[in-house]
Amino acid sequence: MTGKIHLVGAGPGDPELLTVKALKLLRRATVVLHDDLVSPAILALANPQAEIVNVGKRAGAKGITQAEINALMIDYSRRGVEVVRLQSGDPAIFGRLAEEMDALDAANVPFEVVPGITAGLGAAASLGVSLTDRRKSARVVIVTNHQAHGDERHIKTDWKSLAREDATLVIYMPGHDFTTLRNELIGAGLPAAIPAVIVSRATAPEQRHQSTTLENLAQLPRMDSPAVLLIGWALGRALVESNGDSAQALREAELILSAL
Ligand SMILES: C[S@@+](CC[C@H](N)C(=O)[O-])C[C@H]1O[C@@H](n2cnc3c(N)ncnc32)[C@H](O)[C@@H]1O
Repeated sequence: MTGKIHLVGAGPGDPELLTVKALKLLRRATVVLHDDLVSPAILALANPQAEIVNVGKRAGAKGITQAEINALMIDYSRRGVEVVRLQSGDPAIFGRLAEEMDALDAANVPFEVVPGITAGLGAAASLGVSLTDRRKSARVVIVTNHQAHGDERHIKTDWKSLAREDATLVIYMPGHDFTTLRNELIGAGLPAAIPAVIVSRATAPEQRHQSTTLENLAQLPRMDSPAVLLIGWALGRALVESNGDSAQALREAELILSAL
């Protein structure tokens, strides 16, 4: 008998942000194959009898390849085992969902995808900001600072085609070189005064954020990983909880930052 693989999003960190479906699946799982970024508080909700395997490429199974993770899922499934493949956030956002589904299809293994709250949305909610605002931002661009292509070569993100003043950029894996990023974004046409907020460990008790303008991005202190960087006029509220006047909020934020 072939077991079904559940490709499940664990959300950004706060266990209360798991979906009811994810929680139900975790409670009855026989095996949980999880990412490095899935928090211990979420793993603690799994069936106590479940085998919990960290297939994360950093802290867990160091050196494990995607092909090996795929093979592991297929192997468990062929043993008739109920597997939860648990990814942080949403598996369809910078997870390896596409590759995993292709591998399962090729092996005739049935699967279902259970979405989760992606880090950028968790971060925005924690900050109390909206990513769209019909007065300022008509679109949301979910992007990484680098793009990996088939052979994992890193190709620079084409900011010219993405950076628009009427969009909120949600930048995953933003890296630490904010001088280059700032120069590229300003070079791509974004105004220097546009708000930028970096959120580290969004929705976890250790969440921290720093707000500034694109101009001053490089002066932000280094934040712990994982972190997501939000840029756009819709984020004015995050700079300073104030009177809703984002220009005023920007001035106030600059004063705060210059005093640090
Ligand atoms: C490989 S991607 C996985 C994204 C995940 N599938 C999601 O939907 O959130 C990892 C990146 O997501 C972002 N990330 C994940 N969890 C985060 C969190 N709790 N707070 C801030 N950023 C997070 C960071 O940019 C991190 O480098």
